[in-house]
Amino acid sequence: MTTTAGTGTAAVGTGPPRADGPRKAAGAAAYAYEYPVADPAYIAPVQATVARGRVLEVDAAAAEAVDGVLAVLSHANAPRLDTGAELSGLQHAAELAVLQSDEVAYRGQVVAAVAAETFEAARQAAALVTVSYEQLPHDLDLSDQRADAFAPEEDHRQGDTAAAAPADAVVEQTYTTAMQHNNPMEPHATIAHYGGGALTLYESTQGAHEVRRTVAALTGLDPERVHVVAPYVGGGFGSKGPLHAPTALAVLAALSLPGRPVKLALTRRQMFTLVGYRSPTIQRVRLSAGADGRLSGVDVLATVQTSRLADFIEQAALPAKSMYAAPHRRMGHRAVRLDAPVPTWMRAPGECPGMFGPEVAMDELAWQVGLDPVELRLRNEPDRDPHTHKPFSSRNLAACLRDGARRFGWAHRAPEPAARTEDGWRTGMGVAASVYPVVPPPSGSRARVRYEGEGRYRVCLGAADIGTGAWTALAQVAADALEVPLEDVRLDLGDTALPEASLAGGSTGLMSWGSTIHAAAGAFRARHGTAPRPGDEAEADLPDNPARDDYAMYAYGAQFAEVRVHAETGEVRVPRLLGVFAAGRIVNERTARSQFLGGMTMGLSMALHEESVVDPRFGHPVNGDFAEYHIAANADVQDIRAHWIDEDDPLVNPLGAKGIGEIGIVGTAAAVANAAYHATGVRVRRLPVRLDAFL
Ligand code: MOS
Repeated sequence: MTTTAGTGTAAVGTGPPRADGPRKAAGAAAYAYEYPVADPAYIAPVQATVARGRVLEVDAAAAEAVDGVLAVLSHANAPRLDTGAELSGLQHAAELAVLQSDEVAYRGQVVAAVAAETFEAARQAAALVTVSYEQLPHDLDLSDQRADAFAPEEDHRQGDTAAAAPADAVVEQTYTTAMQHNNPMEPHATIAHYGGGALTLYESTQGAHEVRRTVAALTGLDPERVHVVAPYVGGGFGSKGPLHAPTALAVLAALSLPGRPVKLALTRRQMFTLVGYRSPTIQRVRLSAGADGRLSGVDVLATVQTSRLADFIEQAALPAKSMYAAPHRRMGHRAVRLDAPVPTWMRAPGECPGMFGPEVAMDELAWQVGLDPVELRLRNEPDRDPHTHKPFSSRNLAACLRDGARRFGWAHRAPEPAARTEDGWRTGMGVAASVYPVVPPPSGSRARVRYEGEGRYRVCLGAADIGTGAWTALAQVAADALEVPLEDVRLDLGDTALPEASLAGGSTGLMSWGSTIHAAAGAFRARHGTAPRPGDEAEADLPDNPARDDYAMYAYGAQFAEVRVHAETGEVRVPRLLGVFAAGRIVNERTARSQFLGGMTMGLSMALHEESVVDPRFGHPVNGDFAEYHIAANADVQDIRAHWIDEDDPLVNPLGAKGIGEIGIVGTAAAVANAAYHATGVRVRRLPVRLDAFL
């Protein structure tokens, strides 16, 4: 890689263990809720028991009688937020307008909250708050047959999909993916402390500066008076990108109790109503092809749900735009506004559910035309981005497919479905492609490099490491950029007292922050040379990338699955998963492998388990806890492997890194469903793939 400065020490590309590992293992890395604050109050939300209506009365008498209760907040007495303030495009003011009106827009919405001296008192009192409602009829019926579905943007069209017929082969099917709820290991949590006209938040977030911006706007405080601290975060997966109601509630409680730190951590059940979710999707897919498997038409229409409160459109038709070329193409979304919470980002929003339908349809097409599914995909590799017609900065899907097929033993795959039974288990293999764009970061970033003497440097930016390895990988980038050993770099991360960093979203963290550090190191050397004095420092912003306008930039992957379906019980197991990715330069092979494996495991979880089941009569997920909402556990994950190909892409950024946080989850579920078909001859077009499909 010739584009990276200072590779003499070559920390990048190796696999040092996590810098934050010992701190976490020893309990020295404080998560948001764990910050030691003096004399905290505890917050317990009261949630609406109707899905739509108006709060008539909040009777707090019994709650206020509980020993230790400090305040009961409702729309009648809560501080006002400036919900008309300008927020970043990521935020939904209506979702953050907690206790600002009597309106109830979804079941589980915060309609009151208790602050108390102890967590137990707060919870007990919250259960004693009596809320009466005027209940209005609600609507939670998602289907692709609704007349009121709207197109959030114009459909993407090339040619005329109606003209793609007649064709030698046509697959026309509907595929569905389930509603899912983000469940990072650390639930959303906030400590908020208001005093002296300033607000301090210890927040579990993917972006401290975005929290500051949003909270400052909502409260009318100067952003300089809002301090957000988030050096360690126990997983985000998207729901900690945009802010949600609990953060607004914690801020309201802090404003109500000046001088008193307030603590709010969601229970696992509250995670199923208060911080967003992934919309279910209904994907109508039509592929047409010639006898040689070359696509003549690709039509993907995805219906998703959004909220009456604010629109969030899961971009499920997006990935098909860039995958395969055809003379006749249409990709579009239809959305239905329901009396439900606002959906949110969940790992690879759009690409993750959106690759299920098309990649299962490709498998169906392969069987129709009698081609190996790997070969079918190779035959449909485009020369240019089918969407923008720009050249790819690099596209190595074919290399991923070939390398994966070789490593996985694809050649041993039986040529017919339902051909192999071993010890009562039908076994098969499946493949699917992955894609994830090189997304522009949601905002700029800035980094500071400071020389501390004796060869040591301190590198500062406000980025939040959500558990993915930024503490480690950014130090590697800095070490190489400064041409010093890794141990001579100290990082400061996760605090708005540091230079602004973009939030960890869209798999942009390492590439945007790393590029910023790279620029700051360059600025430092330009100003201070190679013999600096202690205290010398320099800052730089994330540089623009002029190549962005001229090239289509994506990471790719190929996912292979082996599936066993029990011939009598239908039980589904995935003994092997193997992914090969082309994601530019891999900065830390250890944390990268964890990212890929974590994504694939989450994809396995989506394939076999995760489904939030909303009871339309009441409006809440009836399986809103870990007893009923199943997530892949150790026993589900057997032989799982992630590999990557050497990819040199100097166009994406100075690091040549494409971002790897999300691509691992894309395509996994399709590979599993395709393998289940190969094992059994039963085509499953609905996620999760459960045993009843095979009985
Ligand atoms: Mo990630 S779902 O882009 O925060």
